[in-house]
Amino acid sequence: MIGRLNHIAIAVPDLATASAKYRDLLGAQVGQPIALPEHGVTVIFIDTGNTKVELLEPLGEGSPIAGFLAKTPGGGMHHICFEVADITAAARALVAGGARVLGDGEPKTGAHGLPVLFLHPKDFDGTLIELEQHR
Ligand code: CO
Repeated sequence: MIGRLNHIAIAVPDLATASAKYRDLLGAQVGQPIALPEHGVTVIFIDTGNTKVELLEPLGEGSPIAGFLAKTPGGGMHHICFEVADITAAARALVAGGARVLGDGEPKTGAHGLPVLFLHPKDFDGTLIELEQHR
């Protein structure tokens, strides 16, 4: 079902500090900050060739990563995202197999403008998994 690893998302308390380390110490191709107020984050994309790292900083009230950073103030890996060809079929198969889809179970438009959903981390060994539809 799952295709390529689209990105690894890391929640960080300070985007400028975090992205400078990727650029200056790791020598990575680091993009500019992009504010996504409708998703409650500011993101910086880092292209690593075979996938991307996305650094996420909370933006505004009720950010979806605020709770994570309250528990992990130094930052940490927040989720990994795999591509799927048909997100509705994927959700149906996952639920039939006993996995939990977060929220109301329906795909939403994600940070890349594509349909996404998230799977319960307790069903995947403590890892929050995002599925993003790519046709
Ligand atoms: Co993501």
